[in-house]
Amino acid sequence: MRPQPNMLRLLLCALLLGSACAWCPPRCECSEAAHTVKCVSRELRDVPSGIPGYTRNLFITGNQLSRIGSRAFRGLENVTNLSLSNNRISELESRAFAGLRSLRSLDLSGNQLAVIHPEAFTVQNQSLRELNLSRALYNHSAVVDLATSLRWSSLGTLRGLDLSNNGLVFLPPRIFSHLSSLRRLLLANNSLVALHNSTLWGLERLEELDLRLNALKTVAEEGLRELDSVPGAALLLAKNPFVCKCGIEPLALWLNRSQGRIRDAEGLVCASPAGMRNTSLLEVGALALGCHQGAAGARLALHTSYVFLGIVLGFVGLVFLFVLYLNRKGIKRRVYDLRDTCREVWEGYHYRFEADSGPRLAQVGDI
Ligand SMILES: *[C@@H]1O[C@H](CO)[C@@H](O)[C@H](O)[C@H]1NC(C)=O
Ligand SMILES: *[C@@H]1O[C@H](CO)[C@@H](O)[C@H](O)[C@H]1NC(C)=O
Ligand SMILES: *[C@@H]1O[C@H](CO)[C@@H](O)[C@H](O)[C@H]1NC(C)=O
Ligand SMILES: *[C@@H]1O[C@H](CO)[C@@H](O)[C@H](O)[C@H]1NC(C)=O
Ligand SMILES: *[C@@H]1O[C@H](CO)[C@@H](O)[C@H](O)[C@H]1NC(C)=O
Ligand SMILES: *[C@@H]1O[C@H](CO)[C@@H](O)[C@H](O)[C@H]1NC(C)=O
Ligand SMILES: *[C@@H]1O[C@H](CO)[C@@H](O)[C@H](O)[C@H]1NC(C)=O
Ligand SMILES: *[C@@H]1O[C@H](CO)[C@@H](O)[C@H](O)[C@H]1NC(C)=O
Ligand SMILES: *[C@@H]1O[C@H](CO)[C@@H](O)[C@H](O)[C@H]1NC(C)=O
Repeated sequence: MRPQPNMLRLLLCALLLGSACAWCPPRCECSEAAHTVKCVSRELRDVPSGIPGYTRNLFITGNQLSRIGSRAFRGLENVTNLSLSNNRISELESRAFAGLRSLRSLDLSGNQLAVIHPEAFTVQNQSLRELNLSRALYNHSAVVDLATSLRWSSLGTLRGLDLSNNGLVFLPPRIFSHLSSLRRLLLANNSLVALHNSTLWGLERLEELDLRLNALKTVAEEGLRELDSVPGAALLLAKNPFVCKCGIEPLALWLNRSQGRIRDAEGLVCASPAGMRNTSLLEVGALALGCHQGAAGARLALHTSYVFLGIVLGFVGLVFLFVLYLNRKGIKRRVYDLRDTCREVWEGYHYRFEADSGPRLAQVGDI
């Protein structure tokens, strides 16, 4: 058994030096003076046991942790900052951090979270302030689990949430609804294409919203209403692929109106169409995109298409007449044939009618 020498050492320490003994888990570096324990890039597969109680800053980064079980950090009541970044964590169990009753900052960036228990982030004392989930989700499907646990984990005191670099394509409605103290929400470098109703529901205290480097081609009225629902938040919107066609007008007008809180308003430019590339979005509002002449334009287009249809039909008619003309001899013959056939039929009928009429007249006479 491997832990035995360590336990022996601990026992010796306790006997020889009392509580002041500098005990430290293997493959970690401990500094009692700085209240810090670092276990960095040591291929650890589990949270080491025997982390000293004085620890306030705990770094287990760049290792091979794959799962954080329930109460993995039992007894570490003094830890305020925990970083588990750059591991391979794919699963967070229920109350994985529950024992850390002083925890203020939790960094899980650079992991592969796929399974997140609804109560994964519950911390006994509701003390968590900062949660870093940058580049932490295995794929964008994990956002569904995440939304559930953000609602269930009593994170009412969270101030900062970093969800950047996750390839998110959508945010479930009301995903942030229980984060009523959130000030800073970082969503940069995802693949969001729109902001839907109630995405930002409940974020009354938001002060900063970073949406840079997403896939927004425009922001529709629905999304602008969402942004207006967090009036205190400064916004960052640069490096989105804005398409400066008619649909962009509401956004351009909104930008002009909201310039005060858009920190990078000056830097917002069109990505397409080619003719508009690099044009400032603020100028687009003033430019005539020709959207309001839309109805007249449509009428003109309709008119043009009728003229074109007429020309095509006329041409087809001409071809038809020309074919008739070329076949005139054959047609004449057919007409004569038809006339002869008709005549024969007619004469046959006439004959039968006259032959029948005798008895019928006789019947009428009987009545
Ligand atoms: C936490 O820190 C306090 C004050 O520094 C100390 O008295 C206490 O023993 C620590 N807790 C543990 C489990 O060591
Ligand atoms: C601990 O986290 C806080 C944020 O809550 C941060 O300001 C501070 O710098 C962190 N300390 C260390 C040692 O990482
Ligand atoms: C809860 O957190 C506060 C600081 O946020 C701390 O003063 C208090 O001692 C904590 N309570 C427990 C039971 O750890
Ligand atoms: C989150 O972690 C990433 C990578 O470790 C870091 O670059 C980023 O600054 C952190 N976010 C916050 C809000 O501290
Ligand atoms: C995300 O990963 C899970 C496996 O953890 C898989 O079932 C799911 O299909 C993946 N989703 C996407 C969109 O790739
Ligand atoms: C964006 O996120 C991806 C991972 O999702 C990362 O590979 C890429 O470097 C990030 N880009 C920037 C500019 O940060
Ligand atoms: C969004 O909310 C508005 C009212 O605020 C409503 O009229 C609209 O239908 C909603 N859209 C969707 C997609 O739910
Ligand atoms: C866009 O404009 C900036 C300066 O306003 C310039 O540095 C940059 O090269 C331009 N990009 C393109 C693609 O024209
Ligand atoms: C913003 O709107 C005002 C009118 O409300 C207009 O005078 C001004 O030119 C606009 N600014 C830009 C940059 O479009």
